[in-house]
Amino acid sequence: NVISMRIRRIDTPTGVAVKALAPAKVNLYLETLGKRPDGYHELRTVILAIELCDELDLAGNETGEIRLTCDRPELSAGPDNLVFRAARLLKEKTGCPLGADIRLAKRIPWSAGLGGGSSDAAAALAGLNEIWQLGLSAGKLAGFAAELGSDVPFFLHAPAALCAGRGEEVRPVKVGRTFDFLLVMPPVGLNTGDVYRELAGQGSAEPDRRLDEVLAALAEGDVERLGRNLHNRLQEAAMRLCPLVAELHQRLNGIGTAGCLMSGSGSCLFALCRNRTEAAQAEDGFRRGLPPGSEMAQARTF
Ligand code: C5P
Repeated sequence: NVISMRIRRIDTPTGVAVKALAPAKVNLYLETLGKRPDGYHELRTVILAIELCDELDLAGNETGEIRLTCDRPELSAGPDNLVFRAARLLKEKTGCPLGADIRLAKRIPWSAGLGGGSSDAAAALAGLNEIWQLGLSAGKLAGFAAELGSDVPFFLHAPAALCAGRGEEVRPVKVGRTFDFLLVMPPVGLNTGDVYRELAGQGSAEPDRRLDEVLAALAEGDVERLGRNLHNRLQEAAMRLCPLVAELHQRLNGIGTAGCLMSGSGSCLFALCRNRTEAAQAEDGFRRGLPPGSEMAQARTF
């Protein structure tokens, strides 16, 4: 489990504290299969965690208050932050009288389709389960995770999974090797709800053959086959909302990596690279002419 592997308990004079690493993700395949009665889109998506992590420091307190601070002032640390909501939900569900002091250090770009907020929430659930000594099972935590957001349960599971439903039905899948990515983050993010609205119900009746190709290529560690079969149904809708995504995708496509795609609901794009050297070369090559305010980062799978 990608979160529990990355949680460290620290015994302090005032109790247990926890340091948790919350990894980002990329979607290698995402297809929408129509709208559900609850208004969400039925999904089939293959998600892979990558080694670009936010950091959470959590400690219990006796006041009962949840106090969250974040090192990025642009980002709300108030009750709308998913970490805050995770803590409040866990208190409500369990009746735990304790509070928590949580420090969030952001490394993952947000509004990017990289799942940073969802991963933070999953790490908070797992970390608070430790420091409040709630003893909740993985299944219970996954249920709470799904209430917080469609992507949150993935982060309580394996580093790679085929997800269905809203995204909350998580089936771990095999990964045959380490994969290298170059992430390209435009200066503007995208709101997930806006992108799904722009999609306006477009999709497919069934997942196409690329889903099987992606799963087989992942398992076999076949980077060329994986690159040829990347697919994200949300990409065109995101490109209509943000033409810069289209422009960057076209350029990224031209640099000759194994493949490239937008992650999740965007706006971050990734190039799938054959190895770390190619990722470094791609970063160097792409730097020239990068729009002001854009960022790049290399990241590998675990
Ligand atoms: O579940 P989450 O809060 O992350 O979803 C954000 C928004 O994205 C939803 O309000 C919905 O508009 C859209 N969404 C969707 N279908 C999904 C997941 C998200 O329509 N499977």
